[in-house]
Amino acid sequence: MLVRKALVATIFSIAASVALAHGDVTPQVVDVSTLKPLGDDMLETNPYVGDKEAIRVGSSAYNQNCARCHGLEAVSGGISPDLRKMNTECDSFAGKKAKEQCKVEIDTYYRNSVLGGKVRGDRVYMPAFAGILSQEAIWAIKAYVETRKYE
Ligand code: HEC
Repeated sequence: MLVRKALVATIFSIAASVALAHGDVTPQVVDVSTLKPLGDDMLETNPYVGDKEAIRVGSSAYNQNCARCHGLEAVSGGISPDLRKMNTECDSFAGKKAKEQCKVEIDTYYRNSVLGGKVRGDRVYMPAFAGILSQEAIWAIKAYVETRKYE
């Protein structure tokens, strides 16, 4: 009987932790105190490209806030878009100016997607992160995703 009780307890605690891993939608607070402050106005392009500390902070912020849908280390399992595709989307544009413009548009699209989420009718495909993640955290996540190669 005791063994059975222990077994049931174990199964319950495994079930609880699995449920937590998948169903936990509480956004995690991101410590951005080591990053250059960006102020209140949301920028249109990423000021942290290639910034080592931003990439470190962004990696952890990504894994806590985005990975449950977009995949661990930005490798999507297929249900949500693979964010690494944003990194190469501008490669096929001919000419430096067109490439630059494309990159600006990708940053702005990323920014608006994260701030506003993805909602159609009453379906929330992705929650809005405006007011939840700081702009430092949002751009740090982008800097991190840019280091992840799509092959
Ligand atoms: C609850 C699941 C979920 C979470 C959490 C989530 N997303 Fe999403 N995200 C989605 C889905 C699903 C889509 C595609 C929505 C659609 O079809 O319009 C999406 C779309 C996007 C897009 C647009 C991609 C494209 O190719 O069009 C970006 C950028 C994005 N998410 C970034 C993020 C970031 C950054 C985070 C973490 C801060 C995050 N998402 C958290 C589910 C999620």
